[in-house]
Amino acid sequence: MTELRIATSHPLPEPDPDEPLLLAALEARGIAARRVAWDDGREDWARPQAATLLRSTWDYLHRPEAFASWIGSLRGPVANPADVLLENLHKRYLLALRERGVPTVPTSLVLRDEPIDTLPFDGALVVKPAVSAASFRTARFSREQHLEAITFARALATERDVLIQPYLEAVEHSGERALVWIDGEVTHAVRKSPRLSGEKESVALVPVADDERALATKALAPYASRLLYARVDVVRDAHGSPVVMELELLEPSLFLAQHPPALTRFADAIDRWLRASSA
Ligand SMILES: Nc1ncnc2c1ncn2[C@@H]1O[C@H](COP(=O)(O)OP(=O)(O)O)[C@@H](O)[C@H]1O
Ligand SMILES: [Mg+2]
Repeated sequence: MTELRIATSHPLPEPDPDEPLLLAALEARGIAARRVAWDDGREDWARPQAATLLRSTWDYLHRPEAFASWIGSLRGPVANPADVLLENLHKRYLLALRERGVPTVPTSLVLRDEPIDTLPFDGALVVKPAVSAASFRTARFSREQHLEAITFARALATERDVLIQPYLEAVEHSGERALVWIDGEVTHAVRKSPRLSGEKESVALVPVADDERALATKALAPYASRLLYARVDVVRDAHGSPVVMELELLEPSLFLAQHPPALTRFADAIDRWLRASSA
C-alpha cells in the first residue's frame, strides 16, 4: 500500500482536534500515517510512492509562494489534487464563484500596493488578507470608522492583497455555518462564533438547512468528483439568503469530533484513495 504523509505545520499555530481522531481511525484500518511539516526539508516530497494528505498546514499564509512551490513539488498522490489546492490559496476564487452564479459575500479585491482612496461599500465592513486563515489581521469597521478602515487596508496592502467586504451581521445571529463535505456529500455543519483578529473560535453542531446544502453543492460542483474533503462556510445576507464566505479546499478543520460518522466516512475514503493510488 502507498505510504501516507499527513502534511501539517510545526509548531501548530493552534491545536488540531481532528488529528488524533483521524490518526486513530486510519490506524484501525491498518494505515500508519506520518505527520510531517510541509516545510520540513528533510522529507523527500518528490518521492512518487508516498501519498500526501493536506491537513493542518496552517502557517502557509505567511509564506504563500513557498507553499505554492511545495505543492508543485509533490509527485505522489495528493489530496486534494494540487491544481485545486493552488486555485484555493488566494481568495480571488470568491470572485470566480460569483461569476459562476454562486451567491457569495460581496467582495472587492485590492492588489498589493494598489492605492486605496475610497471604500467600495457603505456601512460596516470587514478588511482582511486575500491569503489567510484563522482570522489573521481581520478587522471590522463601523460606518463611522471608514477612515480607520482605509488606514488599516492601506497598511495591509503594503504587504499583501486585501479583501474588503460588507460586514454581514448574521455572523452574530444565525451565525456563520461551516458545512463539512466528505467524499461526495455534506456530512454535517457547525455554527462558528464570530472571530476577528485575536479572538478564539467556538463551534457547535447544527442541522444543515436545505438552502445551505444546495449552496454548498453548487459551489463544489466543478470539483466534487476529485475531492476527498471540503468545507463551505456560509452566512446569511440581509435578505436571509445563504452566501459563501469561504470555500476551503486546502486544509479545513473538519470538526470530526462533532460528528463521528464523518470521521468514519473520511477514513474509509482515504483508505480507498490509497488503494486506488497503489493499484
Ligand atoms: N464579511 C464579513 N462579515 C462578517 N464577519 C466576517 C466577514 N468576513 C470575515 N468575518 C469574520 O472573520 C472570520 C474570518 O474570516 P474568513 O473570511 O472566514 O477568513 P479566514 O477564516 O481565512 O481567516 C469569519 O469567520 C467571521 O467571523
Ligand atoms: Mg474562515
